Amino acid sequence: MTRSEFKRRRKALMEMMEPDSIAILPASPISVRNRDVHYPYRPDSDFYYLTGFPEPEAVAVLIPGRAQAEYILFCREHDEKKARWDGPVAGQEGAVARYGADDSFPITDLDEILPRMLEQARRVYYAMGAHPDLDQRVLDWVNGIRRRAREGVTGPVEFIALDHYLHELRLFKSRPEIKVMARAAAISAEAHKRAMRVCRPGMMEYELEAEILHECACHGARAQAYAPIVGGGANACVLHHVDNASPLRDGDLVLIDAGCELDYYASDITRTFPVNGRFSPAQRDLYAWVLAAQKAALEKVRPGNHWDDPHQAAVRTLAKGMLELGLVKGGKATLAKIVRDARYKRFYMHRTGHWLGMDVHDVGDYKVDGEWRLLEPGMCLTVEPGLYIAPDAGGVAKRWRGTGIRIEDDVLVTPEGHEVLSSDAPKDMDEIEHLMGER
Ligand code: GLY
Ligand code: MN
Ligand code: MN
Repeated sequence: MTRSEFKRRRKALMEMMEPDSIAILPASPISVRNRDVHYPYRPDSDFYYLTGFPEPEAVAVLIPGRAQAEYILFCREHDEKKARWDGPVAGQEGAVARYGADDSFPITDLDEILPRMLEQARRVYYAMGAHPDLDQRVLDWVNGIRRRAREGVTGPVEFIALDHYLHELRLFKSRPEIKVMARAAAISAEAHKRAMRVCRPGMMEYELEAEILHECACHGARAQAYAPIVGGGANACVLHHVDNASPLRDGDLVLIDAGCELDYYASDITRTFPVNGRFSPAQRDLYAWVLAAQKAALEKVRPGNHWDDPHQAAVRTLAKGMLELGLVKGGKATLAKIVRDARYKRFYMHRTGHWLGMDVHDVGDYKVDGEWRLLEPGMCLTVEPGLYIAPDAGGVAKRWRGTGIRIEDDVLVTPEGHEVLSSDAPKDMDEIEHLMGER
């Protein structure tokens, strides 16, 4: 992502802000894994979206219209000794020269400098509740200013939820963002293909996970957007199965839900395929309905349709499949009733997608003024219907029990309709068998 892209975002936010206002946005803290070992640092998405600044211990401040500096970045100071152990930090010089700040101060000076900036503002844009440590400090600063009212100091009169404005911006992906997301999806698609190629009965679920991680890391995507799910057989019915420690059995399907993060953008792909490379007739019966549901949902992804249209299309198709397969009893006439009574939820209990972006379950409102939001070009979402038949599902033919199938793609809304960013990963049964047959 270029510096000008981050600058454009700050400008867009500043244009949304009221006069005489200030926005304050902290970097996320480092997380301790155990004792003196830390998790790999991953910046908070909101902070990174506006700054492109990858270090912890930083606070970004925006003051639209301020003559000396509109964008001020508080961050760590350069320290020769620390640099020897941990590598260099940007410091105040780097913050200005490399990250486009108009001015920069050491983070240790925050308590001294930021209250003076707050004094000049009437409105504070701040995401209260997201960073408890800073919340308290912001309140202390504001109370300190109020105590000086008799000296003629005025200070802020209004707090405004910054996250609401930022999330509206983040919902619409720019060209550079779409490029990165397409690349993330392409890498993940390769990783799914790799898992299909190497899969053999008797392997462990974690061996397929390792293949996914390897493929992604070799393309520079060293983090996953979420913990990969590799569920063989009945494990695929556990929606958040992440221990991935069971053997893969001949005759079972395996469901892999995995997507890398690239340059802080997520991909999120699910494919389900036969461990031995050939779908059984019973598996084909079920899989065909999930694929039909996904196609029906994808057809609804276009500008002007609302957020719930793809889900409704998937639900209708799956409910029809459940009736035809006899999973749900009732005859064709009762399809509408099955949908209305949500009887399909026994086998399809999640929604058909979510926004996708810097966070896998990305930000952005799904409803506006109580109504489902209309899809618009630049929005990115997943389309991920599934069918899950628990091993102990009563009244269901034995051949279908313990089967979980989901097909998930990453989709961009375009002016004409949509583009599937993850289309390199095969999902037609014959294509999957063909790829697996090349082993
Ligand atoms: N992998 C998380 C999801 O599909 O929503
Ligand atoms: Mn998803
Ligand atoms: Mn997923």
